[in-house]
Amino acid sequence: MSDKAKIAVLVSGGGTNLQALIDAQNSGIISSGEIKLVISNNEGAYALQRAKKADISAIVCSKKVLGSEFENTLIEILDENKIDIIVLAGFMCILSEKFTSHFANRIVNVHPSLIPSFCGKGFYGLHVHEAALSYGVKVTGATVHFVNEIPDGGKIIMQKAVYIKDDDTPETLQKRVMEEAEWKILPLAVEKVSKEIKG
Ligand code: GAR
Repeated sequence: MSDKAKIAVLVSGGGTNLQALIDAQNSGIISSGEIKLVISNNEGAYALQRAKKADISAIVCSKKVLGSEFENTLIEILDENKIDIIVLAGFMCILSEKFTSHFANRIVNVHPSLIPSFCGKGFYGLHVHEAALSYGVKVTGATVHFVNEIPDGGKIIMQKAVYIKDDDTPETLQKRVMEEAEWKILPLAVEKVSKEIKG
């Protein structure tokens, strides 16, 4: 019997952060937890292919299709699979207090800025980097934090800074923040939380 923390990764798009978690599991950076399940709210998400290639169960749970039953269905699936840790890796749905309190201190999110800058409602994906560039900050980065009822408002687990270049576009900045910060700190934070839960 495995005594590792059972991890579910929730995704919506390309899934490069999911890939970083899979790679970290394969290389041993994540050793206290195991990715058991990938759930996408979008049936076209490339993240689903990444899960398939890695031999991880992947399912689609669409908010559009399920409507008001979306969160109840998610809770049911996560509970049935005895999931210990839920990782939001580019999951573009805001979760209600009912959901976040059901899994208090068990949900982890990666956000592409240094919280409390450029976060909260409306700040997701490329918009975060557009906002950082238009404000003119010289340093940005990524944050991994616990998820509570306040969007991007839960306790910070890890952060990493990334310098902004004069010729950065939202796209070049997004790529560098992923490469230099997100893909590094997300696996480290997931290992830390897995170890704490199982320790
Ligand atoms: C990542 O940059 C992630 O930090 C961001 O979406 C991207 C998903 O990329 N998440 C948010 O903005 C959440 N507020 P991925 O699908 O390639 O991992």
